[in-house]
Amino acid sequence: MLSRTRQIVTMLLISICFLGLQAQETRPNGLLLGTAWYPEQWPEQRWETDLSLMEQAHIHVVRVGEFAWSTMEPAEGQFKFGWLDRAILLAAKHHIAVVLGTPTAAPPAWLTAKYPETLRVDEDGKRAEHGNRQQFSFSDPLYRRFAAQIAERMAEHFGHNRNVLGWQLDNELAAPSFDASSKREFHRWLQQKYGAIGELNRRWTTSYWSQTYDNFDEVPVHSKGENPALLLDWKHFVTDTWISYLQVQIDAIRPKVLPGQFITTNTMHWNEGFDHYLLHKHLDIAAWDDYFPDGHLDPLLNAADHDLVRGYKQRNFWVMETQPAFVNWGAVNSPLPRGVTREMAWQAIGHGADAVLYWQWRSALNGQEQYHGTMLGADGLPVPVYGEIQQVGAEFDRVGGALLESTPKAQVAILQSYDSHWAIDFQRHSQKFDYVTQVTDVYRALKPIAQTVDIVSPDADLSRYKVVFAPALNVMSNSVAKNLIEYCENGGHLVLGPRSGMKDSDDSLQVERQPGPLAAVLGGHVDQFYALEKPVPVDDLTASPGNVHGMTTVWAETLVPVAADTSVILRYGKTVEGWVDGQAAAISRPVGKGLMIYVGATLDSDLMKTFVGQVLDDAGVAPILDGLPQDVELMQRVKPSGDRVWILINHGINSEHIDLKHDLKDLLTGQKGRFLDLLPHGVAVYSLAGAQR
Ligand code: GAL
Repeated sequence: MLSRTRQIVTMLLISICFLGLQAQETRPNGLLLGTAWYPEQWPEQRWETDLSLMEQAHIHVVRVGEFAWSTMEPAEGQFKFGWLDRAILLAAKHHIAVVLGTPTAAPPAWLTAKYPETLRVDEDGKRAEHGNRQQFSFSDPLYRRFAAQIAERMAEHFGHNRNVLGWQLDNELAAPSFDASSKREFHRWLQQKYGAIGELNRRWTTSYWSQTYDNFDEVPVHSKGENPALLLDWKHFVTDTWISYLQVQIDAIRPKVLPGQFITTNTMHWNEGFDHYLLHKHLDIAAWDDYFPDGHLDPLLNAADHDLVRGYKQRNFWVMETQPAFVNWGAVNSPLPRGVTREMAWQAIGHGADAVLYWQWRSALNGQEQYHGTMLGADGLPVPVYGEIQQVGAEFDRVGGALLESTPKAQVAILQSYDSHWAIDFQRHSQKFDYVTQVTDVYRALKPIAQTVDIVSPDADLSRYKVVFAPALNVMSNSVAKNLIEYCENGGHLVLGPRSGMKDSDDSLQVERQPGPLAAVLGGHVDQFYALEKPVPVDDLTASPGNVHGMTTVWAETLVPVAADTSVILRYGKTVEGWVDGQAAAISRPVGKGLMIYVGATLDSDLMKTFVGQVLDDAGVAPILDGLPQDVELMQRVKPSGDRVWILINHGINSEHIDLKHDLKDLLTGQKGRFLDLLPHGVAVYSLAGAQR
C-alpha cells in the first residue's frame, strides 16, 4: 500500500506526465486542496497541531518557503535548512506534500543593506527600502546571483525529497525597476533588436518631434508619456527581463531536482505587466492567485480569469492562492457569503484547476496582513470558514478520482493580446475603452451559450475552434494576420472587434485602413473611427424574426464593404453628430471554407448576446446542456477516453430546478435522477460515459 503522501507525490508525477513530462505511476486522485503555511513564523512545537488541523481539513499540500529568506540564509552564505527539513517531514507524516517557494520576493536585510544597488528604483528615481517586499531590482546582476544561489542551495537540499511536488519561483512578479542596470540593459536590448540606431529611428518614426537618436544610450527609459513604439518595446523588454530573471532560478533548480517536480510562478488576474504567454513557455504549469477583495464573486469574470490562465499553457493549472472568505487589501474587505468560498473552489476545478490553495493558514502575529482571512484564528483554533473549506477538501477526496486527466475542451476561443492591450492603454482615445472589458464583454455573451471557452494568444493554433473572437486586436503582426487568414480559409469563423488591425508590431499605424493586413481578405475596411460620448443606435440586420435594435456605447467605426460578396450585418441608426448615420457597423465575407466578420461597434450586452448567439448558430456551436437557468453554470471536463465530467454551480441566490436531460448520479450527494434542484451556491458533479459529439 502506498502511504497517502506517496500517493500525492505519485499523483503529481502523473499529473506532470499528463502535462508532457515523464510518466511514472497511476494517479489515484485528481484534485488537491492546500494552503500557504509559514512554519518559520511559529514555534516548532506548534507545527504538529497545525498539520493535524490541516489533515482534518483534507489538506494535502502546503506551499512553504516563499518570503523565508532571512530564516533560510540568516547571514550571507550561511544556509539553514534544518527547520524546513523538519517541517516537510512532519507534513509528510500528516499526508501533506509541499510546494517550495523560492524566497526571492523578500530579500533579507543583510543583503539590501550591504548591496543597496540590488534595490528597485521606481520611475521617479526613488530607491526602495527594506521593510516591505518586492524591493529588489529584476535586472540587477548581483541580485540575480544571490537569487540563483539561494534557489540552487534549496534545490540541492530538497530536490530529491519525494514529498516536494514542485517549485514556485518568487511571488507575483510585479514592479519593474528603473535603476542603472535596467537602463543599461534596456539600451543593450534595443541594440540587439534593431542592430543600428537608424533602424530604430525609422521604425519608431523619430523624425516626429525631433526624437531622432544618435545612439542607443540616448533613448529615454520610461513606461508612460513616450513614443508608443518605445513604450511597446519597454513592455517587451520588461517581459524578457522577467523571463531571464526566472530563468536564472530555473537553471539553478532544474538540474538538481527530481524530473517530476514542476516549476511555476503565481500570477495575478489580468495583470498586464508582462506577456504571460511568453513567460509561461519557460514554466511547467500556470498558477494564479484568485481574489475578490470586496467579497462579491462575479462568476462570469472569475470564469474568464480561469480560462485566461488555462490559456497560458493551454493546459490545466493551479489556483496557488485564494481567499478564505476575505482579504485585507480592498476598500471594504467584506467576506464572501457563506457557501461562496466552496463555490469558488469548484468553479476553479470546473475551469481546469487541479489544485486550490488558500492564503493563508494562520495570520502571523505581526506583519502587514494581520486582518486577512485565514483558516485559524490568532488562538490557533479554526475560524468559521474552516468548516466550509474542510467540506471542499472532503469533496475533493471523494470525487477527485473522477476528474483524473480531464480538462475543458472548447469549440470557441477569444484571442487575448498583450501587445493590443498595451497599445490601447498607451492611447485609449476614450477613457471608457478598456481592453479587458472588451474581452470580457464578449466572454459574458459567449460563455453561457458555448459553456466552454478558451482564451488564447493570437498566435495559438486555432484549428480546433469553430469560432474565434478577436476583440480589439489592435496590434496585428504579419504572422498573426497569416494565422487568422489560414484559420478562415480552413473553415473557421473569425469575428474581429473594434480597433482591430490598426497597428503593426512596432505599434506604427498600418498603411492600409483597418483591419490592415486583413482588409483585402475581408473585402472591406474601416472608413473612420469615433470615440462616443453618448450611445449610438445599432440595428442587427440578420436577426430573425426581425431586426434587433441596440446601442454602441463607447466606440463606433464606420465600415465600407468593397468586395461584391461582403455583406453589411449591423448598421448605425441616426445620431445628432451625423458622421455614422446609416453606415455599416459590421461586415461579413465568406473566406475559403470559413467566414470573416468585422464589428466596429462596442455592442451593449443585449445586442452582444443576440449577435454572438447568431454567430455561434451559423457555425454550428450549441450548448452542451441547453435550457439552464441564467445563474447556473455548467462546466465540462473531458478525459482522453472522451468520458466527461459535469460540474454544475448555482451562482444565484435562489434555488434552481434543472433538467439534466440524462439520468445521472450526483457524485457529491449520491442523488440520482434527471432533475436537479440546486440550492443557492450549490454544486453538483456528474460523470458521463462517452464522448458528446
Ligand atoms: C497575494 C500575495 C500573498 C498575500 C495575499 C493576500 O497577492 O501573493 O503573499 O499577500 O496576496 O491576499
